[in-house]
Amino acid sequence: MLLGDEEATIAAARALAAEITPGTCLALHGELGAGKTFFSRALMRAMGVKDEAIPSPTYAIIQPYQGDRFPIAHMDWYRIDDADELLTIGVEEYLQPPWVAVIEWPERAPSLLPPSTRHLTLTIDPRRPNARHLDIG
Ligand SMILES: Nc1ncnc2c1ncn2[C@@H]1O[C@H](COP(=O)(O)OP(=O)(O)OP(=O)(O)O)[C@@H](O)[C@H]1O
Ligand SMILES: [Mg+2]
Repeated sequence: MLLGDEEATIAAARALAAEITPGTCLALHGELGAGKTFFSRALMRAMGVKDEAIPSPTYAIIQPYQGDRFPIAHMDWYRIDDADELLTIGVEEYLQPPWVAVIEWPERAPSLLPPSTRHLTLTIDPRRPNARHLDIG
């Protein structure tokens, strides 16, 4: 799917949000700057997280939020080394209902992803700086 600009990314996130239920795990793949955080925030807003509840982007491995239908755990696994490190900080709780998990850099610990995980891949369009491509597996 072509996301021609940020508005198109927000619209795609809204459409996906409508399909999400407690226990959904979304793995967001894509290189640095592909738009994983941008997409995650659009998704969280679409799930009822209020703007003021989304802090400035200081790094957190697991950041919990309250949506209007379920709690959401936004995760960024970029700086972790392996699955053990995540298990030590209690990641398993967030990978099951009632939580919805949205994970950046899931390839750091693929063994932890539930079998039902939905994989999304964002890629930068080489010709247009504000365009992205989204593949939903
Ligand atoms: N169509 C688009 N969709 C998403 N982001 C876009 C789009 N066009 C431009 N951008 C910009 O691209 C940047 C994407 O940065 P973002 O932090 O979301 O990337 P990331 O994939 O999370 O990177 P990282 O791996 O470093 O966490 C943002 O500054 C965003 O405003
Ligand atoms: Mg990011």
